[in-house]
Amino acid sequence: GPLEETSLPLFYGWFLLPSVRERVKCTAMDFLKTLDTLEEFKSHMADFTGKAEKEVDLEQYFDAKTALHCTTKFCDYGKANGAKEYAQNSAVIKSYGSVSELSLTALFITPRTVGARVSLTEEQLQLWPADGEKEAESAVPEAASLPAGSRAHVTLGCAEGVESVQTGVDLLQILALQQPEEAKEMELGSLRYFGEGRWMLDLKEPIRALACFSSFYG
Ligand code: A2P
Repeated sequence: GPLEETSLPLFYGWFLLPSVRERVKCTAMDFLKTLDTLEEFKSHMADFTGKAEKEVDLEQYFDAKTALHCTTKFCDYGKANGAKEYAQNSAVIKSYGSVSELSLTALFITPRTVGARVSLTEEQLQLWPADGEKEAESAVPEAASLPAGSRAHVTLGCAEGVESVQTGVDLLQILALQQPEEAKEMELGSLRYFGEGRWMLDLKEPIRALACFSSFYG
């Protein structure tokens, strides 16, 4: 009946605790500020502006997200494929409301999104949907052959008119590419350019973020 249909959330995921949220936001801001001043970044500025000589202020370019989280399953109130099965999964039911530590191992940006890559533990992977990567196949053909959990991320910001679902697609696209050997060593880690405005910073020290596994109804 209608009650049943509306009882599923918009999505499930790990929600960063308020104290870590601020820390992650600050790290992201630092990353954008640093990138903005790098000659390497400036030389590829046209990826963002369409014009070589135009400057871009990355902090203005992205609309920062506030309720930071790592989506596991987008259910769309039950309309999404596999939503009901996910909600009934015993690992999901058992873990609901529990706090665990997410490991944010990289930061990435593209002309569309900025995000943090999340490296899931075996236990956390129990909550990862079987079709998590495959769902992005139309946008990233290689997605289905990437390891489970490859898409796990926290959306930190989106460019104007871009929806946050794009962040996971951008991450998968970067992971499907061959990693360039050339890297710039920075204080936070190694920065690599993947072409077309795609940059990834592998963090020397992963950010350990406590997060609560729960759901969002909107
Ligand atoms: P993400 O997990 O990349 O941040 P929205 O506010 O657009 O309705 O989305 C709510 C959350 O669900 C966001 O966190 C968003 O992206 C995620 N999301 C939206 N659509 C999808 C989708 N089709 N597949 C996976 N995640 C989605």
